Amino acid sequence: MPDAPEQRDRHQTVTSETIEVLKNRRSIRKYADDPVTDAMVEVILEAAFRAPTSSNLQAYSVIQVRDPDTRAKLAAVGGNQQHIIDCPLFLAFCADLTRIEAAFQKNGHDLSDNNMELGLVATIDAALVGMSTYLAADSLGIRGVMIGAMRNDPEAVAEILGLPDRVYVVFGMCLGYPAEAPKQKPRMPKSGMIHHERYDLEAALAAMAAYDPDLRAHYDAIGKDTTDDSWSHDVHAKFSKRPRDHLRAALKKRGFDFT
Ligand SMILES: Cc1cc2nc3c(=O)[nH]c(=O)nc-3n(C[C@H](O)[C@H](O)[C@H](O)COP(=O)(O)O)c2cc1C
Repeated sequence: MPDAPEQRDRHQTVTSETIEVLKNRRSIRKYADDPVTDAMVEVILEAAFRAPTSSNLQAYSVIQVRDPDTRAKLAAVGGNQQHIIDCPLFLAFCADLTRIEAAFQKNGHDLSDNNMELGLVATIDAALVGMSTYLAADSLGIRGVMIGAMRNDPEAVAEILGLPDRVYVVFGMCLGYPAEAPKQKPRMPKSGMIHHERYDLEAALAAMAAYDPDLRAHYDAIGKDTTDDSWSHDVHAKFSKRPRDHLRAALKKRGFDFT
């Protein structure tokens, strides 16, 4: 006798092409020589710009960087990450308040007293366009990695890319056809990341405790040095030093008042 619809649903694995793409995603830092053409970039970005945007502000810009000298300068700011130089295409995703300021000026104002909300809105907009770009590129077989190290020195990056006031690079992105197939990095158990109706703190902390040995096993498998409490150790080691502590002051100089 055929299953009732509810039973059929339970038996079927729910999936789709998009879900499989997302489930297989991993950062790629080594690239084949095959070019990522301007025509491809145009199509990818046109699709990515359909990302949702707060109040239709479209508070982002994307800079394509192909010039090797510019890449070398950006890599120097970004902790000398070789993939910034080697990737066929580097994109800088900017939070951009210039057009919003122009709209203000038409109405007799400027953005000299902009606030945290506007900075966040532009930053979120840039991030959404960035992830959409990543996925649009993936659909053409192009993979890559995001580069937060562009925030190491927002003023130096602005100088290199000729950014006007009220624009900063939220992150960069190296893109190209992959020349490596790294093992996927595990994620924390979703039992502690997905909550039902109310936040479950016990489950959240249990997920973290379960993750340390998982990440350690992953790093052991790929021959990367780690500690027993891999994730909690790394997070503490990196973030207890207050990395990029100058960021708020640097972004204020760029015209973003995160206060
Ligand atoms: C905003 C952002 C900035 C990142 N910056 C860097 C970076 O500067 N260099 C790098 O090698 N990876 C960078 N990554 C990649 C993360 O390290 C990577 O996504 C994370 O370790 C998980 O690995 P996976 O992407 O392979 O799953 C960044 C990721 C994000 C989302």
